[in-house]
Amino acid sequence: KTIDSLGDLRGKRVIVRADLNVPLDGTTITDDGRIRAAVPTLKRLLDAGAKVVVISHLGRPKGAPQEKYSLKPVVSRLGELLGTEVAFATDTVGDSARSTVEGLEEGGIALLENLRFNPGETAKDEAERRVFAQAIADMGDAYVSDGFGVVHRKQASVYELATLLPSAAGELVLKEVESLRKVTDEPARPFVVVLGGAKVADKLAVIDNLLGKADRILIGGGMAYTFQKAKGYEIGQSLLDEEKIDTVREYMERAEKQGVELILPVDNVVAAEFSADAEPTVVGADGIPADQEGMDIGPKTAELFASKIEDAATVFWNGPMGVFEFEKFAEGTKAVARAMSEAEGFTVVGGGDSASAVRNLGFDESVFSHISTGGGASLELIEGKELPGIAILEEGTK
Ligand code: 3PG
Repeated sequence: KTIDSLGDLRGKRVIVRADLNVPLDGTTITDDGRIRAAVPTLKRLLDAGAKVVVISHLGRPKGAPQEKYSLKPVVSRLGELLGTEVAFATDTVGDSARSTVEGLEEGGIALLENLRFNPGETAKDEAERRVFAQAIADMGDAYVSDGFGVVHRKQASVYELATLLPSAAGELVLKEVESLRKVTDEPARPFVVVLGGAKVADKLAVIDNLLGKADRILIGGGMAYTFQKAKGYEIGQSLLDEEKIDTVREYMERAEKQGVELILPVDNVVAAEFSADAEPTVVGADGIPADQEGMDIGPKTAELFASKIEDAATVFWNGPMGVFEFEKFAEGTKAVARAMSEAEGFTVVGGGDSASAVRNLGFDESVFSHISTGGGASLELIEGKELPGIAILEEGTK
């Protein structure tokens, strides 16, 4: 169901579950992508004269208030982007929240404090989640689910709350699901998947699901060294997930049998220490010195990956190719972003670090078909899993 299905919203209290879980350095927002992504739905509701109540989590505070996880730093940026003042409640369902919501006028907006300061939000026990969701529902007349980054979590504000009020998917959720399903359901070919990031374990289910679907899978970043090790290469001090070597080897064999090109780095940029000032050296992928660790894909790999991306009709990318936060080791990630930005096909950047990388490395967002705001959520969609926060909205439609 879309926002239209909620009817006339003038004067109605509309609770919007957003994902404003942005990276912070102290109280400074280092990437406001998720706040900007929340704007279209919020603007639309404000224009419709609703009283908008925004709820979100930030980090993983484990059920109790903690200053460093406060949503307070988000308020002013949200207000700037919306061009209106945003009221802030210092709790989620307590006196501050209730009186803030009561004080809202038509076309007014408030942000409530971090949902995860309340144990009910993430409780394993469904009844406990339901009690918390009911307390939120009591402050609203309708619910809009727009926190795409969190739709893979069966949590009170994502799942139970949708059953307690007339509910609809927001603009961001609709756009995300449409873009990601374009990748998973009958993608235009060649379909190229680029995977990186530190943890190989996080990406195994994606590879498993895509082995029958993708034409090429390019692997870089910290996760690639487990593949290089499985090939029998020396990886020095590089990241390794020893327990996954056999799985990775099996995937490489399956890829070969199924005619999927599984492409690994042919060279790496290595350094003696994990630091921004470390001296970079380029070595072949089969010979990382014992005292060095892999920090990025090498220039030959960057060129190879770019050539595999250029002619793709669909590209999905998740995970940086190296330690892009350090300038000397950002070239591989830049090369993939550049190749994607130049590709004519449908290009999707999966959220989390790769989305931040694209923005922080200065790429214009509009050169990609879609930049997802979801890290885990976009991966789980690509894995072919059912996401609770989406399923519950679709169930309501049936
Ligand atoms: C994310 O950052 O991927 C989302 O905000 C979800 O956060 P979580 O992994 O702590 O549930």
